[in-house]
Amino acid sequence: MSVFGLKDLGTKIAITALGFSLIPLIALGVTMYSMFSSTYHSKVQANIATLAENKRQGIDLFLREQVSQLRTLAYSHTIEDLSSPETLENILTTMQLSSKTFIDLGLINEEGVHVSYSGPYNLSQANYKNETWFNQVMVRKIYVSDVFEGFRGFPHMIIAVTKQEKGRVWILRATIDSDIFDSLVRWLQLGDLGDAYLVNRAGELQTRPRFGNKSREIYASFLGGNFSGAKIKEFEDGNKKIFVGGIWLEEKDWLLVIEEDMRGELKPLFKTQAATWGVMGSGVAIIIIGTLMITRMIVSQQERTSRQQAQLNEELIQSSKMAALGKLAAGVAHEVNNPLAVIREKAGWMRDLLEEEDVKASPNFQEFEDAVNKIEQHVERAGNVVHRMLGFARRMEPVCNDLFINDVIKQTAAFLDNEVKFRNIEMVWKLAPDLPTIQSDASQIQQVILNLFNNAIDAIGRNGHITVTTGVDAASKMLSIVIRDDGPGMDKEVQGRIFDPFFTTKKVGEGTGLGLSISYSIISKLGGSIRFESEVGKGTEFTILLPVKHHE
Ligand SMILES: Nc1ncnc2c1ncn2[C@@H]1O[C@H](COP(=O)(O)OP(=O)(O)OP(=O)(O)O)[C@@H](O)[C@H]1O
Ligand SMILES: [Mg+2]
Repeated sequence: MSVFGLKDLGTKIAITALGFSLIPLIALGVTMYSMFSSTYHSKVQANIATLAENKRQGIDLFLREQVSQLRTLAYSHTIEDLSSPETLENILTTMQLSSKTFIDLGLINEEGVHVSYSGPYNLSQANYKNETWFNQVMVRKIYVSDVFEGFRGFPHMIIAVTKQEKGRVWILRATIDSDIFDSLVRWLQLGDLGDAYLVNRAGELQTRPRFGNKSREIYASFLGGNFSGAKIKEFEDGNKKIFVGGIWLEEKDWLLVIEEDMRGELKPLFKTQAATWGVMGSGVAIIIIGTLMITRMIVSQQERTSRQQAQLNEELIQSSKMAALGKLAAGVAHEVNNPLAVIREKAGWMRDLLEEEDVKASPNFQEFEDAVNKIEQHVERAGNVVHRMLGFARRMEPVCNDLFINDVIKQTAAFLDNEVKFRNIEMVWKLAPDLPTIQSDASQIQQVILNLFNNAIDAIGRNGHITVTTGVDAASKMLSIVIRDDGPGMDKEVQGRIFDPFFTTKKVGEGTGLGLSISYSIISKLGGSIRFESEVGKGTEFTILLPVKHHE
């Protein structure tokens, strides 16, 4: 597979794996978050509704209590008692001992005149005849006012009840401490930023909210109609979001408004959100890193496999060439050997004949002798080729013995001593001293090394160096023999063919082109490998790797 193909494969694997793992993760995260969010929202709303309901009951109860306290007062005392400022004063002081809710008390007659008054304000002669509340209490008998300023120029609220005695109607009136009422309403705020207050039907504030002025918008939408129970709305006020709960009181036409800042209430939700994002983010990161790592692993594994595959293919081609050659060689050798034997025999006979007197006397004797010499010489050469081909065809199984590779190489080089000297070639030895012995076939290895030396000598021609290095190959842990020459090197075309049988660049008669193909098959049989590097103008280096252990 090409490198591009592998890159494509990598991208496809990565995209598929990421798709299959990220989509469900994100879907799960989003679903869980939205489910949690809606559940949480409704829970918060339900909480606020319950709170509003409870608070409303508390305020209603308070108002009811104040009214009934005032009514009890009115009916447990005679008008004569109540008309006396001293008695009224006594009653107020006694009441204030247990609760400071009532600030003052006053008795008013049918004409709206304050008959008696006890309290901090100077209201003893005030006339309420024309006040709305006065007329309302006369009609309804019980009255709880809105907060208003009245004669005092100060916001306050009053409650009033009527009492009939001796055919006349009297009104007992009390002022409620608005601070106490305010704090009653404000008490039980929801959170740090929550608020609670009352507004009347006209939208006027009846208690002081915790955080100053309120924008009417917040509660205006509740004022339109009557509804029972609490209503919750979500509201945006400037840059903050709030929950607003509204509920109408039973005792008075007032709306209790409860505000809760969502930032406070939704903190757990935001925390969950952050945690969800965190878990999802790290999940996504882990998945991406994992996927990329696995993809890279798969791709590089695949690359290795295709490289090995390519190498295997090459080896397969090489060995099939060898097999074909083997068959051919066996046939050719057999067919050529017999006629060669006949020619050799006949040439011998001709030589014998040349010894005879009358032939020697022939004027053509010299030519006959030259011809016979040539025939013998060429039969010899042909015989050699056939011999090599036969040897190649029926390669003998290697005979393995313990051997020191350095010794084998030295012995082989010794054959070539004269040749090397004659051509002024220097042998450079870099043999590792403590190499392990190996189990291999010495004569076959010699054949290979001899061919490599011969090739190097032939390549150099005259004046050069052959460097022989032995050692243990770091990567494969095999024994390595490197033979390097500084000859002319080979171009790419030659490089591609040197292991082909009968490929030679040498003159006819000087090389058969079998040397390297035979070497290749010998080394493969011994369980090793042979490779080379060559550069035109610089030289050539052959490397043989042999297994240290005996090759089974
Ligand atoms: N060290 C080398 N430097 C340059 N070319 C080389 C070298 N070794 C081999 N060759 C090239 O490879 C060819 C094939 O080599 P190979 O040993 O198979 O056959 P040969 O040497 O030509 O013939 P033979 O080995 O049968 O005498 C050579 O003809 C030569 O062109
Ligand atoms: Mg050769």
